[in-house]
Amino acid sequence: MDMDKVEYGWWLPVDVSTHGAQIDNIISVLHWFMLVLFIGWGTFFLYTLIKFRARPGHNADYKGVTTHFSTYLETAVAVFEVIVLVGLSIPVWAEVKSDPPTPTEADVVVRVVGEQFAWNIHYPGPDGTFGKTDVALVDQSNPLGIDWKDPAAGDDITTVNQFHFPVNKQVLVNLTSKDVIHSFALPSMRVKQDAIPGMTVPVWFEAKATGQFEIACAQLCGLGHYRMKGFYSIDTEEEYAAWLKEQAESASFEDDYY
Ligand code: CUA
Repeated sequence: MDMDKVEYGWWLPVDVSTHGAQIDNIISVLHWFMLVLFIGWGTFFLYTLIKFRARPGHNADYKGVTTHFSTYLETAVAVFEVIVLVGLSIPVWAEVKSDPPTPTEADVVVRVVGEQFAWNIHYPGPDGTFGKTDVALVDQSNPLGIDWKDPAAGDDITTVNQFHFPVNKQVLVNLTSKDVIHSFALPSMRVKQDAIPGMTVPVWFEAKATGQFEIACAQLCGLGHYRMKGFYSIDTEEEYAAWLKEQAESASFEDDYY
């Protein structure tokens, strides 16, 4: 992968996800709301500092505020927060996160296994079936613990920190971890999901543009957390097929292992 071509974006990361606009809309509304609150309360704070400063001939008033203005204001803020949550966030969450595709519905199914400090990526190969894996087989040369004696494993492809998938296709990632909790973050796909040992968590998305981007680990997971990054390439269908073929030809895990 050509690292010079990795895109980041100057403010929010470049958005190439079909569901990204909805997430960005929430982020945008929340930040404008916070800006209004910040300026509002900040101005009020400065006003009180000046208005109630110590001056000769002015004594403290122990009665406090007698109007209900601040109560109304706080109620309005709370109402707006409920609107943001119920009217905006929950519907987007329900649409984007609550209905995982089955492995047959998804166009591409991949396993991603986090470890300190790398992302192992497992493709099923042309037969579409993942080879069996077993923790007892995990070692330096077989980080995913693939059982190469399993007939379904023969054509499997594995990579470390290099993730490819095709544009305009639904991708289903079955995510887990070998050791501690990591978080699989694809900022430009607006995807972020904890990778939890002992659990397989489905993550799904679809890209609307090609390009090269960074995978981050978004959960502090140890001393090497900062360097637990990978790259992903969103390819055209032809590029993706060519890449898979190239990986299959250069795959040498099996030969190394036996
Ligand atoms: Cu893995 Cu941070």
